[in-house]
Amino acid sequence: MAACAAFAFVGSAAHSEPAQPASSQDGKYIDANGVPTYHIGQDGKVDWYTYSGYLRYSSECLRCHGPDGMGSSYAPKLIDSLKTIDYQNFLATVAGGKKDLGAGQERVMPALGTNNNVMCYIDDIYTYLKARSDGALGRNRPTEHEPKPASWAKAQDACMGP
Ligand code: HEC
Repeated sequence: MAACAAFAFVGSAAHSEPAQPASSQDGKYIDANGVPTYHIGQDGKVDWYTYSGYLRYSSECLRCHGPDGMGSSYAPKLIDSLKTIDYQNFLATVAGGKKDLGAGQERVMPALGTNNNVMCYIDDIYTYLKARSDGALGRNRPTEHEPKPASWAKAQDACMGP
């Protein structure tokens, strides 16, 4: 009976809604592994990081990766990429870039590690793309969001400088 219940749990977890965050502090949500994640309320209201991530993605990544992480003829569909790329790999790729020279193609992901408009918001961008990748968030700008956390504003000021 116990084994049966455990099997049922595993089975349903695979098809259920995306996991809810394990914890949050001042509007920042993290999963069980300590990785930043999104929080979307029953009413569709998204956490501030996810909202900010949408804005940053749209200004820094969209021109190559397409609107809403959907990909383009030049750069991959990041909502698919994030199904296999983990947080560490994501950070490394964005900071260090990537160059695929296969099959006569020259597709270059620029190294953005010194771009504050990207790196100061990298958790935001990751969180947004993860929500999109998990199917928890639809296309276009999220209509409602949680208020801007004080710690987020402070970290932004420290990262972006005066
Ligand atoms: C100038 C165009 C350009 C911009 C701007 C750009 N990328 Fe890329 N990106 C690419 C290309 C092209 C690739 C594919 C490189 C390859 O396959 O080697 C890529 C690959 C990636 C990958 C790896 C995807 C995979 O499936 O392996 C990630 C993650 C990524 N980009 C994230 C970002 C994020 C986040 C931003 C914005 C902060 C961004 N990129 C901005 C062109 C761009």
